[in-house]
Amino acid sequence: MNKKKQQLKTFTTQDVDGPLTTNQGLKMDEDNFSLKAGRRGSTLLEDFHLREKITHFDHERIPERVVHARGYGAHGTFTCTKEASKWTKAHFLNEVGRETPIFVRFSNVAGSKGSSDVVRDVRGFATKFYTEEGNFDLVGNNIPVFYIQDAIKFPDLIHAVKPEPHNEIPQAQSAHDTFWDFVSQHQESTHMLMWHLSDRAIPKNLRMMEGFGVHTFRLINAQNESFFVKFHLKPQLGVHSVTWDEAQKINGKDPDFHRRDLYEAIERGDFPVWDFGVQVIPEAAQFDFDFDVLDATKLWPEEQIPVEYLGELVLNENVDNVFAETEQVAFHPGHVVPGIDFSDDPLLQGRLFSYTDTQLSRLGGPNFHEIPINRPVCPFTNNQRDGMHRQTINPSVTSYYPNALANNQPAPVPEEQGGFHHFEQSLEGKKVRERADSFLDFYSQATMFYESLADYEQQHLKDALVFELGKCKNEQIRKNVINQMNHVHHDLAKYGAQKLGLPIPSKIETPNVKTYPSLSQA
Ligand code: HEM
Repeated sequence: MNKKKQQLKTFTTQDVDGPLTTNQGLKMDEDNFSLKAGRRGSTLLEDFHLREKITHFDHERIPERVVHARGYGAHGTFTCTKEASKWTKAHFLNEVGRETPIFVRFSNVAGSKGSSDVVRDVRGFATKFYTEEGNFDLVGNNIPVFYIQDAIKFPDLIHAVKPEPHNEIPQAQSAHDTFWDFVSQHQESTHMLMWHLSDRAIPKNLRMMEGFGVHTFRLINAQNESFFVKFHLKPQLGVHSVTWDEAQKINGKDPDFHRRDLYEAIERGDFPVWDFGVQVIPEAAQFDFDFDVLDATKLWPEEQIPVEYLGELVLNENVDNVFAETEQVAFHPGHVVPGIDFSDDPLLQGRLFSYTDTQLSRLGGPNFHEIPINRPVCPFTNNQRDGMHRQTINPSVTSYYPNALANNQPAPVPEEQGGFHHFEQSLEGKKVRERADSFLDFYSQATMFYESLADYEQQHLKDALVFELGKCKNEQIRKNVINQMNHVHHDLAKYGAQKLGLPIPSKIETPNVKTYPSLSQA
């Protein structure tokens, strides 16, 4: 049993077959009938057992995640297979054979907690590494790029993707006007849209999906040298999808298809394994590419920057209680350890704010790090106190640093002894609300992706465009989308236009020019 599972066991109820008591420990002699004035009479307010039982039940639900509400998780282990000290001083990556407990939660992005598994959607792939230096969270997706470049657009994106407010339809991300309006107003979404319409968005199961950190992060070694990095997870079972026809049939017969598959595979000992890899460039090489490494709508071509594998992730234990573990887990891309730091990717920078903020309301106050699944396996001590649902009893009189009263108060640790020291990045420039011109190539990688597909995959993508855009009722938006597709590939735009009875745009001779602004004016 790994260190995290041992820790969780200390929070697991042992006496499951003990006497039935109230929450105050009072043994009860009856649990089938409420207390009444006479056998056929009215129920009495003094029935504390009835009141407690119903009150607790009334408050069993917590808000679902604002995105990624439907998810499923499992425990496992990360094993370092190649030490990476030339790039990072992170302890969990510095010794071959070192094992780190992990918890992974897979998710659908758009649908509600009770929606179906096998829908066309991006999948979340979030991993918590319980390292000896604190928790490191890799909060990624199964698609290597994102719809937007700047966090300020995230609420707009999600408002467009989620069911429309007047009728809460549809659960499906892309089958409605607001989705198509948003993506066609944002050329930066085009690359991700290609992945979204491809078979990648209908994975066969969770064990056969890739994971990507998406953003550029930073690695720092013991010599304080900085590298830019993209994180990858490659399933040893390979990447597999279903066809759209299969997806629709599966959803009808078994909305829990993905979670059932993962649960059953782990129960029968068929543990899924992913290779954990990195693409690394020295910080000085960041301008050597025809895209901006800070732009989350771009991937780093693996032919140019090969993925190097540093470890293996295996999922080998199901949870004991889905609510306590999978629902209450709180991931955050800002949970890093010494040797891992951030880049200036403007999407990542906004995420660094969003996760704790949302969890404060989802998990009821500032002490959710004390919930068993979220606790680090290393000691965690500081001068934070009180708050809703505080579990820790801090005996010290003082709760501030520095102080002259206590000799065992939590105090900062020097960098040489493992204290986190933010990378001393040089900064310059004016304070502006703009984006760099290097973010303005919206189509090159979208076209590259489309052209990289086999014929049958291209056909699936074209059919997905027709199916999903066919659900969009607004004629102008449909035309805007066809214009957008024309910037990716004329054949795609032509096919969509013909099938949907729209005008076929003429071929653009140099489609990958840097264009801006909105396509609706194109
Ligand atoms: C979940 C915000 C972009 C991956 C969430 C949640 C929020 C959020 C509020 C719910 C968290 C919770 O309730 O615990 C944002 C913002 C983004 C952004 C503001 C952009 C500015 C992304 C990107 C990725 C991503 C680019 C992938 C790289 C995830 C995943 C989850 C999640 C996997 C589910 C975590 C879980 O399983 O609990 N996001 N997100 N998000 N986000 Fe993001």
